[in-house]
Amino acid sequence: MKIYAHRGSSGTHPENTLAAFKEAAKLPVHGVEFDVHMTKDQELVVIHDETIDRTSNGTGFIKDMTLAELKEFDFGSWFSPKFKQQTIPTLREVLYVFKDTDHHLNIELKSDIFPYEGMEQAVLQMLTDYRLEPRVVISSFNHEMVRKFKQMAPPIETAILFMEVMIEPHKYAELVGADALHVFFPAALRQMGAEAIASGKKVRTFTVNEEKYADLLKQVGVDAIFTDYPEKMWKYLHSQEKSGERR
Ligand code: G3P
Ligand code: MG
Repeated sequence: MKIYAHRGSSGTHPENTLAAFKEAAKLPVHGVEFDVHMTKDQELVVIHDETIDRTSNGTGFIKDMTLAELKEFDFGSWFSPKFKQQTIPTLREVLYVFKDTDHHLNIELKSDIFPYEGMEQAVLQMLTDYRLEPRVVISSFNHEMVRKFKQMAPPIETAILFMEVMIEPHKYAELVGADALHVFFPAALRQMGAEAIASGKKVRTFTVNEEKYADLLKQVGVDAIFTDYPEKMWKYLHSQEKSGERR
């Protein structure tokens, strides 16, 4: 079972900052996940919430501020004073961290609350510039955007994000044009998870920070977990594999 560093190594570093991504880039995990919003001046930035209130020393919506305005704020001190130099990263800055690694990149488009017109074209352009198309999966809770992205760039892997226990979501994924299912992990443990895996769709689950849940998900055959503690989880799963090999 593969591991993605969720919002970078967000259990040990402030989420969605270059510090969290540089830490993840050093780890032997399969991939990294991060969240993208769009500023008032149409720049792509990496942050989870629609506002900067929770993860910076400022307040306000991303969509109402320019990149230059956003760059004035401290995105590290809320986590620990030693990260006070961290600013909001642009998508370009985050891609640059991983340009010479072989990590798989899960770019989550956070356009489910505000529509962020043109976001999918801007993301696609940047992936083309960096020749990263084979190394990404585009996901969103906004399935209209997933569908649009797949229509624009069929070879790029896509995934629908959802929290609910659904009926045959692997069939719904076909309708959207999604290659994979990114599912809240308790839902993945239900019948629909087993059915989706049996259908051949990749099922990845969030956010798995405890070893006992990783064990359960591994048993049902999920492809990957997103975790805030990628190093801890890698050591745990890797040591299991090693002891399995010895048996
Ligand atoms: O992409 C997996 C996971 O990040 C989805 O939820 O709220 O952490 O972005 P959230
Ligand atoms: Mg996310």
